Amino acid sequence: MKTLSSMHGKDLVQSPEKAVIVVEDLKKSFGENQVLSGFSMRLYKGESLVIMGKSGSGKSVMIKCLIGLMKPDSGSVNIMGQDIVHLNHVSLDRLRADVGFLFQGSALYDSMTVRENLEFPLRRHRERFGKNIRTEKAVLEALESVGLAHTVDLMPDELSGGMQRRIALARTLIMKPKIIFYDEPTSGLDPITSKEIIMLMKKVQKQYMTSSLIITHDVDCARVIADRMILLVDGINYAEGTYRELIKVEDFKVKAFFK
Ligand SMILES: Nc1ncnc2c1ncn2[C@@H]1O[C@H](COP(=O)(O)OP(=O)(O)OP(=O)(O)O)[C@@H](O)[C@H]1O
Ligand SMILES: [Mg+2]
Repeated sequence: MKTLSSMHGKDLVQSPEKAVIVVEDLKKSFGENQVLSGFSMRLYKGESLVIMGKSGSGKSVMIKCLIGLMKPDSGSVNIMGQDIVHLNHVSLDRLRADVGFLFQGSALYDSMTVRENLEFPLRRHRERFGKNIRTEKAVLEALESVGLAHTVDLMPDELSGGMQRRIALARTLIMKPKIIFYDEPTSGLDPITSKEIIMLMKKVQKQYMTSSLIITHDVDCARVIADRMILLVDGINYAEGTYRELIKVEDFKVKAFFK
């Protein structure tokens, strides 16, 4: 099978030493069902990398292997110099403070106010911030960066779906993560709200100098936000490149994404 992994965007610095995530030859099967059959990728510092794949192609399995929630059968995952597959729980937990997640299902805590929702990760990783962290200031800063400082005392069910998604992003940002994983950040939102979320993701990327790994079905989202894209097909990194490069590829499995 032909892979197109050699195609790279030209304007981003992609030297090996700039990689914050290096995944090599990841394999994962469930019984007879081989989901990942040698998936490799790199995420470079400061870039937005979008991974697309059809439903059931293994995107969630891949991301779970990346953050240590699932053990691959073989292959390696290195995040900021640490070997994730063999990391103990304590080190994994510490690393997770540097890596933010915005999962579709990672809803806010219903019984807590917006403020309490945002304070929660700070408390959980208290050792990282020390006793003197000015919680109130950190909460307001994070809320301001998503344009929702005025909601600090509201309960999640007083907010719209789009606002809840933005609060969830603020809760991720309050940790000042170096890498953010987004799993379907725009799913379930109307096109206008989706666009707002995408613009916000771009703003945050610049403001906090994060590197982002974004899983999405949304081709419009990919077009706007991706510095580079990877198409996950048949358990491998089937094609890789910028949006402009990929839409020109004459391969029916690649074409299927851009119909
Ligand atoms: N814990 C598990 N046990 C057995 N099979 C699993 C498990 N987790 C995932 N799978 C299988 O792995 C395959 C890939 O699932 P995955 O959830 O990664 O797909 P996906 O690309 O995220 O799809 P979607 O876009 O629908 O979220 C599916 O065939 C699924 O049934
Ligand atoms: Mg999934």
